[in-house]
Amino acid sequence: MPIPASRKHHLQSLGLPDDAETIRRARAFALRAGLTLTELGDMAAINPNSLRVFMAGCYDRHHAVESNTLNIRAALKQVMDRFEIANLPPSSGPHYDTADYLAVRKSMWAALEQGTAFLVDGPPGTQKSYTFRRVAEEINRSKLGRAVYIYSRIDHSPQSFLVEACTEAGIPNRGTIDQLMRKLRFFLSGQRALLIVDEAQHLNSKGLEILRQLLDTPPFFGVILGGSHDLSKTIAVWQMEQWRSRLRRTHLLKGLSEAEAARILTGELGPMHPADVAATIQDAHANAKRWETKFTYISARNLFFAIEDARAALDATKRASQVSTPVEILEEAIA
Ligand SMILES: Nc1ncnc2c1ncn2[C@@H]1O[C@H](COP(=O)(O)OP(=O)(O)OP(=O)(O)O)[C@@H](O)[C@H]1O
Ligand SMILES: [Mg+2]
Repeated sequence: MPIPASRKHHLQSLGLPDDAETIRRARAFALRAGLTLTELGDMAAINPNSLRVFMAGCYDRHHAVESNTLNIRAALKQVMDRFEIANLPPSSGPHYDTADYLAVRKSMWAALEQGTAFLVDGPPGTQKSYTFRRVAEEINRSKLGRAVYIYSRIDHSPQSFLVEACTEAGIPNRGTIDQLMRKLRFFLSGQRALLIVDEAQHLNSKGLEILRQLLDTPPFFGVILGGSHDLSKTIAVWQMEQWRSRLRRTHLLKGLSEAEAARILTGELGPMHPADVAATIQDAHANAKRWETKFTYISARNLFFAIEDARAALDATKRASQVSTPVEILEEAIA
């Protein structure tokens, strides 16, 4: 079904991962969760036939305009992100102190302690959500302040955004925009507080204005805005001057370095032949665009997928070598 022009324009402005990235992630997600495509389609409210054609990589052969996949990509990303947030605490898996992780972590602590704002702009798989959630846990464990992680959804109204902020903060979450803001200020005033808004490109100007007010008035929340490059574009328009003047720093993430990727690979899989390291890292590359410049980068997500694939292949080889021959089975039975 064609997407109305206004909706298409809106979705196009969200900087969604491209078809190839989305297919790769959705395939791994479905495999890991044991989902059929129909089940995945149900979860994301996508027509199963459209999803099948999309996953086969031939959507544009059946549909006129490439951007028709926007709806599918947006719905899939939201489902997969929500699942990871609800089910995978960032402290559960292996952790690596990469340069980007450490830099963003430092800014998050500075935002908390000084009540300032930072922007984190990075393409898919560049450790944004992982860092936000892991450092939020660290802050909350430290008791030196309160970090509230909020995942902003597509078409999130300012009010439901605030409801989510109150829910995440564990405080009463009913009321008008003004009442909700008062609650946040009142209940979080006894300590330093940090609002971390992931996928902040989904906030409209009203939502951003609300955040600015929380930043500017007591108890002076710290704010981290994270998302795709379209977040930087939104902040760059002239009407956003007040926001720009409040940003202490913008982190432009460009993925893992070759050395970091090699360290993670060998840390997870043990010693490897240099040619295998190079080939796996090559496979973890993804494409992105910042302003008008295209670049390739090493996606942490793709690298961890490659590690999972390699582990699965190793397990399969091990199992195959352990399979008994018919003679061995007979001998075992007789013994
Ligand atoms: N420093 C790290 N140590 C261990 N694992 C990491 C690290 N950084 C990222 N990861 C892994 O890489 C995956 C992808 O990172 P993440 O979800 O943070 O990307 P993202 O930038 O939020 O992408 P998107 O824009 O698509 O939402 C995470 O699920 C996590 O498992
Ligand atoms: Mg993310």
